Amino acid sequence: MDFRAAKALLEWQMELGADEPMGEVPVNRYEVAAEAPKPAAGAVVTTVAEAPADPVEAAKAAAATATALDTLAAVQSAYEFCELKKGARNFVFADGNPQARVLILGEAPGRDEDLEGRPFVGRAGQLLERMFAAIGLARTAHHADEALYITNVMPWRPPQNRDPEPDEIAMMLPFVARHVELVNPDVVVLMGNTPCAAALGKRGILRLRGNWTEAFGRPAMPMTHPAYLLRNPAAKREAWADLLEIKARLKGRT
Ligand code: URA
Repeated sequence: MDFRAAKALLEWQMELGADEPMGEVPVNRYEVAAEAPKPAAGAVVTTVAEAPADPVEAAKAAAATATALDTLAAVQSAYEFCELKKGARNFVFADGNPQARVLILGEAPGRDEDLEGRPFVGRAGQLLERMFAAIGLARTAHHADEALYITNVMPWRPPQNRDPEPDEIAMMLPFVARHVELVNPDVVVLMGNTPCAAALGKRGILRLRGNWTEAFGRPAMPMTHPAYLLRNPAAKREAWADLLEIKARLKGRT
């Protein structure tokens, strides 16, 4: 195979979502012994956590023990019953200033976020930063009035960036609710369909966007996700109107 054909093959695989080697060295699965080797005498065997009768109740109990953001991060990252945890490189908790008046709730980490362990650091994240900078807000700002706090419904990257399943969202919801409670923002931005499904129990972001609603007991603005805006630049006009709504609400004008 020449260079050009090999490059085309790689690009095609990336198109399909196979964009990550799972190990440094290739493994010929045809040559792997059918049966797993027995552990050597005296070896320490780690057992997989047994699923509780109700993983959502387990999530609620765990989230309720968290009295601060660091303990919430600790109990959520220790939660073993969401399958997505197994395929993710990193636990992506949050970024920004916990004093912020605005909390952005995104969907789930993508490839860049999974690698870096921080939300919204890829292309969509860069657009998100430019959008909020246009109304004077940044995750790096120190003053609460100019700051952003950013988190996601899912802290683990779904394979091939698929949408999180309803049962996965249900398991994470108690952690998200506690997260919002601990940050205590004045406004929550529901960035895309997954946070609307989690917080409002409904999807249809193109219908929901731009209309104030309530989520986690506080004002919430659904907005189209920056990844959607990258694919549909014409929708940026409406997103700008939504940003102005948020700015006006923060100034006490709506
Ligand atoms: N999209 C999201 O919703 N969250 C991220 O962290 C990155 C991309």
